[in-house]
Amino acid sequence: MVERRRRSVRTALVGEALRVALAGRERTDPGAGSDRAGSDRGGLDIVDLGGGTGGFAVPLAVEGHRVTVVDPSPDALASLERRARDEGVSELVRGVQGDAAELPGLAGESSADAVLCHGVLEVVDDPVQALQAMASVLREGGVLSLLVAQRNAVVLARALAGHLAEARIALQDPDGRWGATDPMPRRFDEAGITGQLADAGFMVHTVHGVRTFADLVPSAFVDSEPGAADSLAELERAASQHPAFRALATQLHILATR
Ligand SMILES: C[S@@+](CC[C@H](N)C(=O)[O-])C[C@H]1O[C@@H](n2cnc3c(N)ncnc32)[C@H](O)[C@@H]1O
Repeated sequence: MVERRRRSVRTALVGEALRVALAGRERTDPGAGSDRAGSDRGGLDIVDLGGGTGGFAVPLAVEGHRVTVVDPSPDALASLERRARDEGVSELVRGVQGDAAELPGLAGESSADAVLCHGVLEVVDDPVQALQAMASVLREGGVLSLLVAQRNAVVLARALAGHLAEARIALQDPDGRWGATDPMPRRFDEAGITGQLADAGFMVHTVHGVRTFADLVPSAFVDSEPGAADSLAELERAASQHPAFRALATQLHILATR
């Protein structure tokens, strides 16, 4: 229940920003996506790197976009296939088993109007190479939707949980980890990730904070108090672009173009 609530806060905010960016892509390049064989000229060509079970990919296909999910997990791809079939969009969703490093060969260079990379840059072997790979599969003017874990949030979370030494380690560690047993391979700072995006040839348009409060507010309160879940979602939306609160969010959602 708690995880579902957190996920819905995340997908709602990220989904809203993403749809605005995709609509902009359709407006600025009405021929976008038209060079795929058999395209009916509706919808965009989207690559979801590490798209997993299709939490973003399948709803985008339902909206008429053609989505290729590249993911190393065969189990995730099997769930993706089932989900796409259940929603009646199997012909618009393609699952490809593979790694970020292989992306250009698997998806095709300059083949996509948009690339999604949500919760994946934290775990790939080489984030710089992965960003370059994503740039290479995007068409000119194509949109990157990047969602990454933010260091500051884990510093705050470890301190509030009483793990003060771990909070200090996370604050100073180059990868934003709180120790050797931290399951997250790396976290990002806004300045660092926007700099890496610029180095890979991207222009950053928006940066939103995602889950600024959702991981801090007691779940028992949100689940039991009438209207609290809606109020939390509204608070998240209002805080997502506020610089001070954005800096504390669990994740950063960045929209950029190539
Ligand atoms: C936290 S899940 C995120 C799933 C999905 N993007 C979402 O937002 O719901 C991370 C995903 O990255 C995939 N992954 C792990 N290592 C990867 C790699 N080197 N290249 C591409 N995807 C990877 C995993 O299989 C998993 O599906």
